[in-house]
Amino acid sequence: MRITIFNGSPHAENGNTHCMVESFSKGALQAGAQVENIFLAKKEIHPCRGCFACWIKTPGQCVIQDDMAELIEKFTHSDVVVFATPLYVDNVTGIMKNFMDRIIPVADPHFDKDEGGECVHRSRSEKIPKLIVISNCGFPEQSHFQVLELLFKRIARNMQTQVIGEIYRAGDALLKDAPFILKPLIHKYKKLLQAAGREIVEHQQLSEQTRLKLQEPLVSEDQYIAGANEYFDKLLSTL
Ligand SMILES: Cc1cc2nc3c(=O)[nH]c(=O)nc-3n(C[C@H](O)[C@H](O)[C@H](O)COP(=O)(O)O)c2cc1C
Repeated sequence: MRITIFNGSPHAENGNTHCMVESFSKGALQAGAQVENIFLAKKEIHPCRGCFACWIKTPGQCVIQDDMAELIEKFTHSDVVVFATPLYVDNVTGIMKNFMDRIIPVADPHFDKDEGGECVHRSRSEKIPKLIVISNCGFPEQSHFQVLELLFKRIARNMQTQVIGEIYRAGDALLKDAPFILKPLIHKYKKLLQAAGREIVEHQQLSEQTRLKLQEPLVSEDQYIAGANEYFDKLLSTL
């Protein structure tokens, strides 16, 4: 199985998103997958100009000369694509959104109806990767991922594929900078991410059991909020 991880965090390998991706990749590699990690922040990706040349003038080819041709090639040659992004304003980052808009040359402009009677564009590519979403955010409640859940369900429909795994982690401050006393908890969480990576390769989906375990709070919301406010008070008092 070929897995390509597109990471939309501006912090690239130093981010919380990569912290999750690292453990997930480890599990997938152990189970025999070929895994490639791509940091979109290090690529040249201009915003889509909306010219539709990729549909009607140079079918399948974007007119913008940047790194997207190479990335689309990787996208269409993957069995599984991971959209890894921090939550920004309840959504994906701008870096990720630019990337997503620029995947449009993979679609053929003609309209078809899907099984639910809703329009979709045909795909130009015979192989459409299955999708996984990995995200994290600063607030402690898992409810902050509601927009991403719906967004990727819609994207999978548009691409005529499936989301085979969603891993959302609220309470990002614990991922990379957990206090010493919480390190064993984070270690356990990372092992769970690793197990998720293995499951995807071995069963082509994430079990409900693992999905639910990955959503369990790491500390109580009250504890987390108190810790966050104390941290901000400390930072602001040094100004
Ligand atoms: C511009 C911006 C918008 C953000 N919006 C949200 C948000 O809507 N909800 C939330 O819980 N966290 C939000 N965050 C926090 C990030 O999701 C969080 O810090 C994340 O762990 C960053 O991941 P990274 O280290 O991989 O970049 C935001 C951060 C930034 C910089």
